[in-house]
Amino acid sequence: MPGVLPDGEPVPADGTLPAGVQLGRHGFGVYVHVPFCASRCGYCDFNTYTAAEASQEGYLDAMLEELRLAAKVITPDRVDTVFVGGGTPTLLPAGDLARILDEVDRTWGLAPGAEVTTEANPESVTPESLRALRRAGFTRISLGMQSAAPNVLAVLDRRHTAGRAPQAAAEAREAGFEHVNLDLIYGTPGETADDFALSLDTVIRAGVDHVSAYALIVEDGTRMAARMRRGELPYPSDDVAADRYLAADRTLGEHGFDWYEVSNWATDPAGRCRHNLLYWTGGDWWGLGPGAHSHVGGVRWWNVKHPAAYARRLADGISPGHARERLTPAEQHMEDVMLRVRLAGGLPLESLDAAGRAGAARALGDGLLEPGAYRSGRVVLTLRGRLLADAVVRDLLP
Ligand SMILES: C[S@@+](CC[C@H](N)C(=O)[O-])C[C@H]1O[C@@H](n2cnc3c(N)ncnc32)[C@H](O)[C@@H]1O
Ligand code: SF4
Repeated sequence: MPGVLPDGEPVPADGTLPAGVQLGRHGFGVYVHVPFCASRCGYCDFNTYTAAEASQEGYLDAMLEELRLAAKVITPDRVDTVFVGGGTPTLLPAGDLARILDEVDRTWGLAPGAEVTTEANPESVTPESLRALRRAGFTRISLGMQSAAPNVLAVLDRRHTAGRAPQAAAEAREAGFEHVNLDLIYGTPGETADDFALSLDTVIRAGVDHVSAYALIVEDGTRMAARMRRGELPYPSDDVAADRYLAADRTLGEHGFDWYEVSNWATDPAGRCRHNLLYWTGGDWWGLGPGAHSHVGGVRWWNVKHPAAYARRLADGISPGHARERLTPAEQHMEDVMLRVRLAGGLPLESLDAAGRAGAARALGDGLLEPGAYRSGRVVLTLRGRLLADAVVRDLLP
């Protein structure tokens, strides 16, 4: 089961924001969390439940009730991006996902050309469901592939075969999805350099326009963490993860994918995930659904996690917000630096204080920042800098 939520100040029953808090000008997105999976992958600590742990009944009504509550709290000009994530959104019938999108559009209005993404597990879509999603207005699909090597998929407890993810990507293209992402995880115990090369080769052949590749994180409380503690699986190695990252960047780069965030590559700027870019550049979003996080004008709040507790709150006419916090200007700056430094566009040197600029000069000397960008006043990571992004961030902040 997912872990406990942090505390903060309480969210009022009607969900209203503190006085004076307003939507910013960096765009508005809607996130919808669908907290259900057919089974739990051993490495995953997302807020998601199997059928034995929570029922899907009542989810859609509760989530739409939260949307009605949200409409009384904020009135954005338009919705630039919608991202339905999970869990496994595609465990819901395509008709339910279409209804969610329709209601978001009726409530706040989708901007012309809005990006509308759903995550999906490769085994939970079909050519028919993909066509239905496309017809409903979804423009982008993000498939959890993780690996093309059967031995790696087995360690990760994935349900699909190695071939299913590229096949689902091809079906998505045939259904008319212009933007298709495949997620990879690297550094899984037992994964060889050849296994990862096969995964990279598979995503390239799949004809997608976006790839996300994440180093395996061993999350506390997961089955995988327990297996490692018992000595049944070795812990991942930082050196191996660095080698895999270099291989990913080299191979993807050779095939027309450019990095735009440390873990994300796209063949074209139009293929970049605008919803995630909104998160990374200080945009506002309302997160609907159990455990979803929201951010408006420097206020962050997060919903109760369990679908039953979430539905109960909304049935009682109460905001599902568990707690909230108001970021101080110093915290906002810290978050802005942490997120922007990971982007290929980087951040302006002048946004740093004197100590941060001194840190940037040291990072430049260590070969972690691009000299050309630095000369024109920007902090942009080199390839080596991307491998050490967390250390660079520590140097740029007080
Ligand atoms: C919500 S999941 C994606 C959708 C879908 N549920 C699936 O797994 O196919 C988002 C992505 O996060 C990544 N992820 C989840 N847990 C991770 C972990 N412990 N370490 C690294 N990546 C992880 C995976 O690549 C996964 O595809
Ligand atoms: S299918 Fe995705 S969300 Fe569900 S448990 Fe696996 S990684 Fe987590």
